[in-house]
Order: sequence, then C-alpha cells, then structure tokens
Amino acid sequence: MKFSAIILAAGKGTRMGASGPKVLCDLGGSPLLGHVIGAVRRLAPSAVHVVVGHDADAVRAAFDGDDLVWHEQREQRGTAHAVSCALPALPGDDVALIAYGDMPLLGLDTYRGVLAGLAHADVSLLTAERVIATGYGRILRDGRGEITGIVEEGDATPEQRALMEINLGVMAAKASLLRDMIAKVDCDNNQREYYLTDCVGIAVARGLRVVAHKVQNITEASGVNDRVQLESAERILQRRRVRALMAAGAGVRDANRLEVRGDVTLGANVLFDVGVVLEGGVVLGDGVTVGAYSTLRDVTVGAGSVIEPYSFIDGARIGARCRVGPYARIRPHTVLADEVGIGNFVEIKKSEIGAATKINHLSYVGDSEIGAATNVGAGVITCNYDGAAKHRTVIGDDVFVGSNSQIVAPVTIGDGATIGAGSTITRDAEAGALTLTRGEQKTVPGWRRPRKKDKGTD
Ligand code: UD1
Ligand code: CA
Repeated sequence: MKFSAIILAAGKGTRMGASGPKVLCDLGGSPLLGHVIGAVRRLAPSAVHVVVGHDADAVRAAFDGDDLVWHEQREQRGTAHAVSCALPALPGDDVALIAYGDMPLLGLDTYRGVLAGLAHADVSLLTAERVIATGYGRILRDGRGEITGIVEEGDATPEQRALMEINLGVMAAKASLLRDMIAKVDCDNNQREYYLTDCVGIAVARGLRVVAHKVQNITEASGVNDRVQLESAERILQRRRVRALMAAGAGVRDANRLEVRGDVTLGANVLFDVGVVLEGGVVLGDGVTVGAYSTLRDVTVGAGSVIEPYSFIDGARIGARCRVGPYARIRPHTVLADEVGIGNFVEIKKSEIGAATKINHLSYVGDSEIGAATNVGAGVITCNYDGAAKHRTVIGDDVFVGSNSQIVAPVTIGDGATIGAGSTITRDAEAGALTLTRGEQKTVPGWRRPRKKDKGTD
C-alpha cells in the first residue's frame, strides 16, 4: 500500500516540565521523536512528514540530514489542526498514517496492523485495552460493537471514563478523506482544541466504517507526557534491549542494572557486571568482560579483553586480551593494540599504544604514539599542551620510562631507551641509552631538623 506518514511533534509537552521540546527528551540514547521516525521509516512510506511548532528549529536541527518533510504549526491548536498543516503536501489518493511523536515504543507490526485495517474500513485506529487509562481518549462503541466515536478524557462523562478501551493516537485514512473530515472539526470542547479524534464521529455520521487494531503487546502502549511516564518507557525499552542481548548469549548479572543507550554488537560469552552503561556504537569481541559501573561509549573491544570496574572508555579501539582499569579513563581517538595494560587512575587521550605496553598507575598520556612492549612507570605525564597548542610525544618499542617523569612534547624517545625516574625530558632521548635529568643526591653534614620550643622553659 502506498502511504505517507505524518508525525505530530509540535506540542510543548508542558507536563514534562523540561526546558526544551518534549519530543527531544532522551529515551535510551535517542530523542523520543527519533524512535517514532525510526519505526515509521522501516514501513517504507513514500515520505515522512513531521509537524513541528514548539522550538521547531531545535527539533529540525536534531534530525538535520534526515530525509524528512517538515511542516510548521505556529500555534498549537490541537491534533486535527496539526495534521492539517501537513495534509496539503500529500497526494489526495495517498493513505496518511498519523503517528504521535510521544508514543516511542510502538513497533513495526503495530503500525502495519493499523494500515491493514484499511482493507475493510475507511478509517483505522490503534487502541489498547485493560491499561490504566488516565490521560487517554476513550473509544465509544455501539451495541453491535462498532466504533462510534472517541471522547477525550477531559470531556468524558464518569460512565465514559470507566470505559477501558483507549485511543493510542495512531490513525490511518485516505488523505482526501482526512482533509474533508478535518474541515468539519470544531473546538467546542473543554480544551478549546481541534481534536483529530473528532474525525471518528464525523466519519461514522457520514456512514463510513471505522475499525481498530488492538495493540498486541501492551508495553508498546506507553505514551510519554511527563517524567514518570518517561521513566516507565525507559525501563520497558531497557528491559527489551537487555533481553535481546541475553538472547544473543550475553551474561548479565542484573538485567535492571545494565543500560543500553545505543547499538551493541557482541561476540560469544560477553559478560556484564552491574551498573554498566553502553552508549553509541559498541562492539565487543568474544569473551570480553565489562566490570561493574563502567561506561563504554563508541568503543570496539577485541576478544578476551577485560574492562575492570569504574572505567570510562569513550571513542576508543581496544585490541584483544587487553586489561583496562579499574578506574581508567580512555578518551576519543585512542587505539590500544593487543595485550595492552592500562591501570588505575590512568588517562589516555588521542594516542596509539603498541602491543603489550603497560601504563599501570596514575599517568596522563595525550597526543602520543607509544611502541610495543614499553613500560610507562607510575605518575608519568606527557606534557602535550604549551598553553597555546598541542604537541605530540613519540615513544619507541621496549622503552622504560621511570616513574614520575614528565615528557615535554614535542619529543621522541628512541627504541630501547631508559628514562631515569623523576626526569623532565625536553629534548629527544637516544635509542638504547639511559637518559635522565636529575639533581645529584647529596647529604648535608651536621644539619639539624628544627624542633618546636618547649613552652614550659621560655
Ligand atoms: C492524544 C489523543 C488521545 C490519545 C493520546 C494517546 C487527541 C485529541 N487526543 O491525547 O485520544 O489517547 O493522544 O497518546 O488527539 N500535537 C501537535 N500539535 C498540537 C497538539 C498536539 O503537534 O496542536 C502533538 C504533540 O506534540 C504530541 C501529539 O500531538 O506528539 C499528541 O498530543 P498530546 O497533547 O500529547 O495529546 P494527548 O493529550 O496525549
Ligand atoms: Ca500524549
């Protein structure tokens, strides 16, 4: 079926209490609206139209580069009015599938189910039953079970409020029909808004048939209007994602304490301890273990590597059989070869570290290239910044950098060199040689440590 999607995203989301537009609130690592666009797009519509209003520029900017048709609803006068902002851009015989930017968990098959309803009706809706109905429109049916209308909660009688079939907001109908029906919608209701839902009564009055597809999985029926609903939607989404990882063979200590905020690709036998956060694109090889309370953002980790607890790894490629942390911070554009050891309180930024090199304690390595099998002692600092520009440090293979040394870049330390502990290296150090900059040790004869005066004798 040829159809175009219209996603409504113009509302402010006052109930959310956020400063920005509601549809940009983060859910599992992407904005609410991104989830809806993603689901709708997989249905292969002719076009995806998005109606924006509140903070329109910010919403558009968040999806810059996506193939979307934007429409601006300058004043938010209700969902029918919002649809009418996009409708002129649709060919009349195209089917319009209307989706709401604040219903992020609806799946592909659910949207398909609504479209399929048009095979035997003029208007097709998405409804749900037996959920807590607060805030949703109620579906009205006649004695034969046919849909006769939708009443918004704020306009419903106590009897209507007790009805448990609710409107989830998705609607499909021919664009030309929607246009005719919306032209008849008024704002004669408690909110003084033009309700899209009024189209249902209008269709029935014209003798048209309205059907509903009931959502199969009730967890999809979670609208996000406030912070509490956002948190529930996040838990549902996380539960789904973590289950998918477990189904793919991942070991998870506690499904409630693993957060997946991006795309994760896993080898066999990957283990996650509690409190792990995965963001962006994360690729973990066979047998990788991620220790408690570590965050991995846009990271590739090779087979057999262990990320020890409390590490933060961002924008890095880590080889096989490495050991990182505990308490390590790896910053963007870092590449660790195989069998590298990065220990506690070590920060690495924009550096390449060769195979089997160890940087085990309390170091800062930035803008550097370090060869293989080199040992960087405790407290070593590459001084990469002169206050104006960044400079590179190059350290060869099989180098030993003594503890508490500073390497003032730009500088090169040759293969096999040894740097004496406590040195400040400002010029290139020769390969194979011992280089050190250190005051001579001396003992001062006859020196006495000052003593406190005895108060009593003064
Ligand atoms: C709406 C439905 C309600 C349904 C519920 C399901 C109407 C009148 N009511 O209520 O029956 O149970 O969704 O989630 O449609 N929007 C605009 N422009 C506007 C108004 C809203 O673009 O002028 C957008 C909002 O940004 C939001 C969506 O439409 O994405 C729904 O609006 P919202 O105010 O949240 O409607 P509900 O009260 O939830
Ligand atoms: Ca809503």
